[in-house]
Amino acid sequence: MLKRGGVVAFPTETVYGLGADATNAEAVLRVYEMKGRPRFNPLIAHVANRESAESHGDLHDAARKLADAFWPGPLTLVLAKRPTSKICDLVSAGLDTIALRVPANEIARDLLQAAGCPIAAPSANKASHVSPTTAAHVAEDLGDGPGIILDGGDASLGLESTVVDLSGSVPLLLRPGGIPRKDIEDLLGATLADAQPGDRPTSPGQLASHYAPRARLRLDAMKVEPDEALLAFGGDPPPTNGPMVNLSAKGNLREAATRLFAALRELDTSGYKAIAVMPIPGEGLGEAINDRLRRAAAPRGH
Ligand code: TXA
Ligand code: MG
Repeated sequence: MLKRGGVVAFPTETVYGLGADATNAEAVLRVYEMKGRPRFNPLIAHVANRESAESHGDLHDAARKLADAFWPGPLTLVLAKRPTSKICDLVSAGLDTIALRVPANEIARDLLQAAGCPIAAPSANKASHVSPTTAAHVAEDLGDGPGIILDGGDASLGLESTVVDLSGSVPLLLRPGGIPRKDIEDLLGATLADAQPGDRPTSPGQLASHYAPRARLRLDAMKVEPDEALLAFGGDPPPTNGPMVNLSAKGNLREAATRLFAALRELDTSGYKAIAVMPIPGEGLGEAINDRLRRAAAPRGH
């Protein structure tokens, strides 16, 4: 399917991706169209290993360090694109950089091996919806758009990759994600600057209301109003008669990450117009969880 220029949804350890042969501009265009993604928002090119990454992007010392430590895994590196790379310009939306990731999920790795090409893939949801962590989520959002949906069960991590831009003079954190900021900073021996709006190409992950359910979110809630569903965290949720999902009764951030997007989808279909969200600690994976919740809570209009 990929070799024919088709679109294949596939599992990764973070979220499901909507993939096309990254060297085939027509196929990549279909991904943008199917997702309803603005053409100026670049995609991640998934590759089988570091060698392949080296052929598309300039992996200088810092990049190599991070690649060795975290690939395969939930880290995306934005690097200067090599002029010899066969990845089409549409993937990076005309920028001179390329976002590269080696996924850890077995099915994704087998797919990359079998296809023999880099696979351009955003998360397999409609633009501005919640990212999919199951094959059923993909089908809910995209119907029979993709030629194939490979079902790999629940995504083991459940949060998108951390996106680090190493193409400039200072390393930038473009999107917090599955690898905590601190792990990257410790390895680089440098702090990651936060991307300023307008500093870098707008990325969908940066748009305020990206991961948006229909229901309104109220963050840092300590009690539940009668018309609210509850997204809980920890052992002591406030009493409620409405629907509730506890992200982790044990207060475990990893568990919370795996459940976050499915929980938002579930509460969103409960018919309640608002979701009260308990406070979630900001360290480790908590930074990415809180980032997604803030975006989901942001006013619409993008
Ligand atoms: O975990 C993930 O990263 C998942 C799985 C499928 O790999 N993919 C994913 O893709 O979340 P997407 O398209 O939803 O988010 C990719 C992010 C966006 O914020 C995009 O703007 C940014 O990476 N990005 C891609 N290429 C870039 C580039 N050349 N420069 C700056 N940002 C870039
Ligand atoms: Mg996405």
